[in-house]
Amino acid sequence: MVKVVGKILDSALGPQVIEFHEALSGERGLQQAQELKPDIVMCDIHMPGINGFEFCKKIRQSGLPATVILMSAYDESEDYAIQAKEVGADAFLTKPIKKGELLFAVNFILRIDHLNETVLGKNQELQEDQRRLRDNLKDIMRMNSQLESQNDRISSMNRELEERFDSTAGLLTNIIELNQSQHRGHSERVAEIAVFIGQKMGLSGDSVQNLKTAARLHELGIVSLPRDESVEDALDESKSRLYTSHPLVAEMLLKGFPGLEPVAELIRHMHENVDGSGKPDGLAGEQIPLGSRIISVSSFYDHYRVAHPDSSVSEVLKQVEKQNGKWFDENVISLISEYARSQSPADNAKVISCSVFALKEGMELASDIYSESGINLLRQGTVLDLDMVNKILKFNNVDSVVGPVKVKP
Ligand SMILES: [Fe+2]
Repeated sequence: MVKVVGKILDSALGPQVIEFHEALSGERGLQQAQELKPDIVMCDIHMPGINGFEFCKKIRQSGLPATVILMSAYDESEDYAIQAKEVGADAFLTKPIKKGELLFAVNFILRIDHLNETVLGKNQELQEDQRRLRDNLKDIMRMNSQLESQNDRISSMNRELEERFDSTAGLLTNIIELNQSQHRGHSERVAEIAVFIGQKMGLSGDSVQNLKTAARLHELGIVSLPRDESVEDALDESKSRLYTSHPLVAEMLLKGFPGLEPVAELIRHMHENVDGSGKPDGLAGEQIPLGSRIISVSSFYDHYRVAHPDSSVSEVLKQVEKQNGKWFDENVISLISEYARSQSPADNAKVISCSVFALKEGMELASDIYSESGINLLRQGTVLDLDMVNKILKFNNVDSVVGPVKVKP
């Protein structure tokens, strides 16, 4: 049978397709299979030594990937095909072997092998692509992480620059207010009001920042005025708008600093009136930069409150309203009213004035604390602790604290 099978395959497929080896016992067959690693193993069930089922089991146990075809004569009493399947055979042929059946089975197996090889090749290509993708992904993640750490460094440098700029602006504000004992804290309060209005009007982050800086420095030009009544005039918005030109001095000082040009521009126009009667360019309505219109109303509101401490908020707002359509923009006026209302009357009612010696741990400052020489000791909103109270008392011996101090107990 071995000879017959060999002849059929050789004549049908030829030596380019199939290489045929024969073994005349199961044991010899196993040995050859280990050496030759064939694609297909065919064997009879009845052989000298171990039978075909045993042989098939051992092939499977050895891990060889060969396809196994078992063959046997037809036997009515035994279903060899089922047993062949149970021991792991891939096909079963009954004898006498028919040339067509044998070639059909072998061709089928060769085609499956070819397909397997193709799939294997494709799989390898896919695995190679996946490996390249993984490498690319790793590169991208590495670059991302480098970019993130660079971004972190830039953000931290930006924060540091912003903090330095903020403290420089604070220093300038203190210098501006040195000779303004009655109006100390005005610049910071105007900045707070202006930022409230700017944010309500939907200004961008940069515009709000410029507005805040311009509000803090809007009286920078007053430093240039002689220390006489002209300073008091400059602090009275009604006179200041008519006679003084300190906004132009501030503009001149600021516009030389890179990045502060927009701030200088806002201060230049803060005394323009919406009816066109203001200084220095006689701009009207929306020709006046919005930030300038906001600072204009905010500064007037705060100066008036300071100059008329007994006036209620609604009385101050009435004074603002008088200039609606003349000096001030209607929309800005409605928002400063909203700001004034947002300062809870209940909170204001809780504020008490006391001497510096009555300050206690746990009190919240309702206004900034300044010394006689103009040093800003503590900001509004600070909650006092024991250490702060002691430091203020010691400082008071050297440079008296301007009193009384406003606190929320
Ligand atoms: Fe002002």
